[in-house]
Amino acid sequence: MGTMSRRQFAASAVALSATALAPRWSAILIGGPDAAPAQRVVVRTDVEIGTVRPELHGHFAEHLGSCIYGGLWVGKNSRIPNINGYRQQAIEYLRELGVPVLRWPGGCFADDYHWHDGVGPVERRPKRVNIHWGDYVEDGSFGTHEFIGLCQLLGAEPYLAGNVGSGSPGEMRDWIEYCNYPSGSALADERAANGSPEPFRVRYWGVGNENWGCGGEMTPEEYADLYRRFAVYLREFGGTKLYLVACGPNGNDARWSQGVLDGLRRRLPNGFSMHYYSGGREAPTRFTPEAMNEQLASFARIEQAVIQQRAILDGYNNGRNVGLLLDEWGVWDRIPAEDQQRNGRLWQQSTMRSAVAAGLGLNLFNRQADKLYMCNIAQIVNVLQSLLLTNGPGGEQCVRTTTYYAFLLFKPHRSKMAVRVETETSSPLGLSVSASKGEGELVLSFVNPRYDADVEVDCTLRGSNASEGTAQILHDADLNAYNSFENPLQVVPKAHPVRVEGSNLRVEIPRLSVVTARLRIS
Ligand code: AHR
Repeated sequence: MGTMSRRQFAASAVALSATALAPRWSAILIGGPDAAPAQRVVVRTDVEIGTVRPELHGHFAEHLGSCIYGGLWVGKNSRIPNINGYRQQAIEYLRELGVPVLRWPGGCFADDYHWHDGVGPVERRPKRVNIHWGDYVEDGSFGTHEFIGLCQLLGAEPYLAGNVGSGSPGEMRDWIEYCNYPSGSALADERAANGSPEPFRVRYWGVGNENWGCGGEMTPEEYADLYRRFAVYLREFGGTKLYLVACGPNGNDARWSQGVLDGLRRRLPNGFSMHYYSGGREAPTRFTPEAMNEQLASFARIEQAVIQQRAILDGYNNGRNVGLLLDEWGVWDRIPAEDQQRNGRLWQQSTMRSAVAAGLGLNLFNRQADKLYMCNIAQIVNVLQSLLLTNGPGGEQCVRTTTYYAFLLFKPHRSKMAVRVETETSSPLGLSVSASKGEGELVLSFVNPRYDADVEVDCTLRGSNASEGTAQILHDADLNAYNSFENPLQVVPKAHPVRVEGSNLRVEIPRLSVVTARLRIS
């Protein structure tokens, strides 16, 4: 590993000009009795993995708590500043981040959603009980047109989840015709009469959600039978080629995957969606280091699951053509009842720990870029590991969470070619690194999940030379630090020093931090 021995590296580190470095860092480099040796990282710009599809940074919005109603959608007559009913501040923040794809309307909600209830004049839309998330009544004012309008505002690709659990093949088929057929059919003309003469051309369609659980508690065989039946009727209306996503496993459940795929051998889906949450046993802002370590260690298991589920798919004839989606992921903490009562179901604060978790996830997506088609964090606003939080459904405030900023730091990887990175440690709580290259630039992301140790990185580039570099860091030594409504800028990215010389990069990665460095390379 690396080109220098540990002894050679130590000698050269001492020889570095201390004036070029931040004071705290130079103390580490010069070395005292407790100075940890630098960790060596080798970036193989000559070994390509696969393109970091922007869809690996995808999102998910469900009719749950205050994600849609009161979160993204406040209505046109709200006193909260809005653009045609969409919360203006949320739109502005999300546009800045870029939302490649947005999945809707669930989640569990999807398998009890009847799309036709959500189109046409709002006053005529039936009021329905949301049976999964609190038995409250929804007025249906956010339906297909409102969702597509949101995607258009955000520049996001829409991804609709159809109802397999309590719906029918005919209902889902009609939804596709309604969305995609240009004109002349009753459903296309109904869409036009409802204000959208242009077809929506929705490509991504989930055929159910978690059908092993809230989507009908099916066996893999039952689901495969239903999927085949649905798929017969889900057509390319108006020439929009569909990307049909079958329900994949809960975590790394190989039994489910094999059972479903055995049943679909002759009609493999375009995509196969796994869900993998990282549970937490503490309230979001009260994590202990032990509870954090337990939660963060799950990301190594997610990486294993991605590798193993990919291998299962590859084992089928033409299985290599089936995209693997991580349709729901993120930290799911023990959320205090008061927070949910005040702000909505599953309203969860995002802390420095959550940002580290996001960084571990996004790093593993880069490393496995050849195996993943899409990944959607749960969820975009006010639910679980959200990007934005509002102070309740009626609240005017909207803050960018630590998770938002972790995503922002990874944005430069989008559409670049992921390249191999070799590190000294494979521990689940060791330094996590990924890299991607494109058009004279190398992007490196480092995540230090340790709460008690800073890491100095000595990074060698193989296959490229770097001339200059800059970096941004998201860091707080307090694992429970977060962006509150009173102090929304507590944890935000800042400039971070890097030292670049030819094929060598040196950077300090403090405890609990996410760092992205951008190097000009030749
Ligand atoms: O994201 C919250 C819920 O978690 C979703 O509705 C469901 O798909 C999953 O179990």
